[in-house]
Amino acid sequence: MIERLEHTKYAVSCCDGASGLLQLPDRSIKLLYGSPPYPNAERDYGVWKSGEYIEKISPFVDAAAKKLRDDGFLVINVKATREKATTHTSTKRSLVVEKLAIMLEEYWGFHCVDIEIWVKENPVPTGLRVACQDAYEQNLWFSVAPKWKINLDDIRRPYVSHSVKTYGEYEYKPRSNGLSYVRKNKRIQPNPLGALPINIISGGVSSRILGHQATQPLYLPEKYIKATTGPGDLVVDPWMGSGTTGIAALALDRRFIGFDRVESYVQDAEERFKETLKGGK
Ligand SMILES: C[S@@+](CC[C@H](N)C(=O)[O-])C[C@H]1O[C@@H](n2cnc3c(N)ncnc32)[C@H](O)[C@@H]1O
Repeated sequence: MIERLEHTKYAVSCCDGASGLLQLPDRSIKLLYGSPPYPNAERDYGVWKSGEYIEKISPFVDAAAKKLRDDGFLVINVKATREKATTHTSTKRSLVVEKLAIMLEEYWGFHCVDIEIWVKENPVPTGLRVACQDAYEQNLWFSVAPKWKINLDDIRRPYVSHSVKTYGEYEYKPRSNGLSYVRKNKRIQPNPLGALPINIISGGVSSRILGHQATQPLYLPEKYIKATTGPGDLVVDPWMGSGTTGIAALALDRRFIGFDRVESYVQDAEERFKETLKGGK
């Protein structure tokens, strides 16, 4: 499959994503980014119950551990859910996402870069009356190596206006306990490339209507592709869906391989990749 990338920048296949990953050369992937079926979420592509979640996702993570480069990264976007999200009687929020995060480090030997939060500014109402509405998802961001490099400058964000004002007017002084990030009186100059990125991503859910029930907004994979890869690096999504990760990767001049079990998703995603390479998104 990887040979196809000699001729075009992407390759897709309709198959089980874990089996697809195993077809790739060992240590070839720079970033595996994907959004598996969420625990308990009933979608037209099936449901992974929280009780069987670790069993379902394990073949993917086993394969990722073999196929990621030594300087590679794994990012899993996922949302914890309940057995029945709309009931008035209490249903526990599943902790299987937290269990997966712990296992990624303790069982599979990855190193946690961070667990970032995607705050959805326009969450889909769940009808839930026994806890607050679900308005965030988690991005489990792990590195193969215990020490890593990320392209912070590529994911800087605009300064908020009151920070710029404070930097302009305020002289930072070291605290008497020494626990301060300035050692001597100092004014801070804003970085011309923008403020340091934060581990929260805020934005709307995708407004792109693509015939898929879980289409992500492009800004989610874009952040991690920019942070962890360079032009020409290989990005892989074993749960490709409508192809969001591939569109973001190709638009940023990376190579992309995607797998999904549903033939129509694979065909539609491929059409989108052709469009992206022609210059549209
Ligand atoms: C949450 S969606 C991914 C959505 C995608 N990120 C997007 O923006 O469109 C999960 C996808 O995993 C696919 N899937 C489920 N089980 C799979 C498996 N064993 N192998 C490959 N894909 C699978 C589903 O068909 C679905 O498209």
